[in-house]
Amino acid sequence: MYSSGLFLLIFITCQMPGSQSQECVSRQEVQSTLRHVHKLLSAHETSFLQSVRSLRKKLDLLHNNTIKHGSNINAGKNSTPICLPPNPPANGRMLGQVFKVGHEVHFLCNPGFQLSGPETRECLDSLRWSGEEPTCQRIDAGAHNNPTTSIPTSTSPSSPPSVSVRPSRCIEFQDSMHCTCEQGYSISRQDRSLCTDIDECELFRMTQAGRLCLHMCMNTAGSYYCQCPTGYSISKDNRGCQDIDECETAAHNCTKDQVCVNTFGGHRCMVVECPRFRNASYIKTSPLQCERNPCVQGNKACLKAPLSISFHFMSVVSNMSTPRVLFRVSAARVLGDALRFGLLGSRGAGHFTLQRSSRQSGELLLVEPVQGPATLEAEVEMSELERRTLLGRYVTKVTLFVSPYSF
Ligand SMILES: *[C@@H]1O[C@H](CO)[C@@H](O)[C@H](O)[C@H]1NC(C)=O
Ligand SMILES: *[C@@H]1O[C@H](CO)[C@@H](O)[C@H](O)[C@H]1NC(C)=O
Ligand SMILES: *[C@@H]1O[C@H](CO)[C@@H](O)[C@H](O)[C@H]1NC(C)=O
Ligand SMILES: *[C@@H]1O[C@H](CO)[C@@H](O)[C@H](O)[C@H]1NC(C)=O
Repeated sequence: MYSSGLFLLIFITCQMPGSQSQECVSRQEVQSTLRHVHKLLSAHETSFLQSVRSLRKKLDLLHNNTIKHGSNINAGKNSTPICLPPNPPANGRMLGQVFKVGHEVHFLCNPGFQLSGPETRECLDSLRWSGEEPTCQRIDAGAHNNPTTSIPTSTSPSSPPSVSVRPSRCIEFQDSMHCTCEQGYSISRQDRSLCTDIDECELFRMTQAGRLCLHMCMNTAGSYYCQCPTGYSISKDNRGCQDIDECETAAHNCTKDQVCVNTFGGHRCMVVECPRFRNASYIKTSPLQCERNPCVQGNKACLKAPLSISFHFMSVVSNMSTPRVLFRVSAARVLGDALRFGLLGSRGAGHFTLQRSSRQSGELLLVEPVQGPATLEAEVEMSELERRTLLGRYVTKVTLFVSPYSF
């Protein structure tokens, strides 16, 4: 480029429009000058190429050193003491290229081999590696014939062994290394040639909005999974938990005489027994209801006893927001001129109140959040009156099963 530009310049000087031809130097003089310039340029060119070659060599050397020392280059001046590189095990390999004190190397075995000894060794202050030198042992092929023996290490080449450290993939680009990791791994802070597992559970633990799992998060090499308590199955998105209805799936032990009640996370087998009062007797008219037998004439105690006693089982989650209507009692047909609603005894007093919701109905309300696991009971009474005279009482026994979890 340089030489051709010079040539052009000379050429133009001689062809300058308006310049007198007689003033132009003779042909011989020009040729002599050109030869001279040629020689000069050749010398320049040789020297130039030589420096370029030398420069390229130096660059190559520098580049090779950069690759060899990796991230060491930054701390090069500190000349930190290093351990001697350990030997990779036969039938395996070693991950890690930083041998400085406090740094780790990791060992992997080839498919079909199992690591015996430490997976990780650290360069100690004594400039020795921690632990024993690991070896790769062939996995006994005979174990396949025994179905009860499970092989912890994956031997299939399609699924990589489950380890928390894996090699990174690096490419050189304009004198710098760019390293990437597989999904679920990130570049090790200590050693760019290594990828370490990302603990997704830890990462998303504190963020309520980004909570990974409804219940329990289990970190695995390169991934994570969610777990649910017993009595729940994992939901379709693999993060939530769904209650298993044991009564529906018949996975329960309840006898024919018992009522199966599904709860969040389990089930209960409930026995419904009609009460025994001294002067009144009851008969079961449905699995959840007892009705009073007709009273002997003049037996006032019998007439005062409830006409019917109903049982109601409910399952709720823990710490439910309140107030919340749990149950509504209403009269199908009213004989008298007034209905009265009341709360009889209750285990879990303070949690419930009863309110009138219409002329013919009342509601049982949960007014305080309940932390599970808990079982609360309430008895709702409805009285029918005619000119202030009691016509009949109807009692509903409500049992509330509160789950240990908020789901
Ligand atoms: C740099 O490394 C390459 C291959 O690793 C080698 O061929 C080359 O000679 C090395 N260059 C220098 C200057 O050491
Ligand atoms: C059913 O009963 C058996 C024996 O009494 C017991 O071992 C088992 O845990 C029970 N199963 C359930 C779901 O309660
Ligand atoms: C209960 O019934 C008995 C007879 O069965 C009767 O003698 C008694 O008076 C009754 N009690 C009341 C309080 O009505
Ligand atoms: C119960 O719920 C309230 C409001 O939703 C919440 O602030 C509180 O932490 C919960 N308590 C428990 C023990 O989960």
